[in-house]
Amino acid sequence: MNRTRHDAGGAMPLGDSIRPTIEALPHSPIATIADYGHGRPGIIPLWFGEGDLPTPEPISEAGIRAIRDGHVFYTYQRGLPRLREALSAYLGRVHDVPVPVERITVTSSGMTAIMKTMQTLVDPGDEVAIVSPVWPNIVNAVRVMAGVPVEVPMHLGNQGWTLDVERLFAACGPRTKAIFVNSPGNPTGWIMERGDLRRVMDFARSRGLWVVSDEVYSRLVYDRPAAPSFLEVAEPEDRLIVVNSFSKNWMMTGWRLGWMVAPEWLGPVLENLVQYSTSGTPAFVQEAGIAALEEGEPVVADLVARCRAGRDLVCAALERLPRLRLTCPPGAFYVFFRVEGETDSVALARRLIDEVAVGLAPGAAFGSGGEGYLRLCFAARHDRLAEAVDRLARALG
Ligand SMILES: Cc1ncc(COP(=O)(O)O)c(C=O)c1O
Repeated sequence: MNRTRHDAGGAMPLGDSIRPTIEALPHSPIATIADYGHGRPGIIPLWFGEGDLPTPEPISEAGIRAIRDGHVFYTYQRGLPRLREALSAYLGRVHDVPVPVERITVTSSGMTAIMKTMQTLVDPGDEVAIVSPVWPNIVNAVRVMAGVPVEVPMHLGNQGWTLDVERLFAACGPRTKAIFVNSPGNPTGWIMERGDLRRVMDFARSRGLWVVSDEVYSRLVYDRPAAPSFLEVAEPEDRLIVVNSFSKNWMMTGWRLGWMVAPEWLGPVLENLVQYSTSGTPAFVQEAGIAALEEGEPVVADLVARCRAGRDLVCAALERLPRLRLTCPPGAFYVFFRVEGETDSVALARRLIDEVAVGLAPGAAFGSGGEGYLRLCFAARHDRLAEAVDRLARALG
């Protein structure tokens, strides 16, 4: 391959100068649709995974104060000790398990935590078994490392989305390095119950596999205070990495703050990876994170109440449309619904923008099982959601 790209600097060789794995990374269909719809008059954008409210006061104030107080220098690679202590206390409180500070590494977002995990575990050709439909960044983080994502499909039935864990185990072969579970799941809202968490952990332990658990939606659940965590069923030395984020629970998507929990012995390895990538997370951002953990429970409670009402409004309206197939999700903040007779979700998402100015994420973004589906984020103002579902009824009814 010796293609060239012409730009202001002249012809640049492509393909023979960068890693083919990187050149082959797909563009996210979610971004394609957002680019298509951005700026359209009257558009109601529900394509991304974030709410429409700014970060609440006690949290944003802590960040602003920290900048004013001069917290603008290089800092601890694995995170401010006070933030790591606050995370340890938070995890102990929410999951009722001790998580010592030594196991915790602060990262510049959940996505960075996922990428660090893949950098740590995945050599070229290694396989990662991933429960799907799934957020595309996870699959592509494996690909960045020249690893091979192996999707294990869930099933949508009358009981909602379910995973047959035997299928997950059957997908693990000699090249498998890790099992990736995102519960509560994006886009489905599916929650893996504690019995299955235990079975997956036991299976991984017996095979010497890693479990990577993406728990960024762990507090966005509607039938209990928090989703069960792998931390509750694992031993401290188990090959388990839990990735998490401040983005969703505390409405901090733009702050870029997350964390990882790993076996203690992995700490120095992760410290190196932080050093050689971001060289630490801004201290003033971390100060906001401390405020979120120490003062942010009302923020989480308000967000969950708002999302529950948004979910109920959207589900009730969409369930009335005969062509749609959906289940009201127990977690996360998305409704992921199938439109009977539709086989090209990108074309359908474009049509909805053109005809009724509603922006949804196309199901094709979420793996092979997602085609024919659309994802709607209901973390939005209720009058906007009501208007959006009215418009969808016109286009899809
Ligand atoms: C399943 C899942 N994991 C991780 C993330 C990353 O969140 P962030 O990078 O904003 O912390 C997201 C964001 O949408 C997500 O949906």
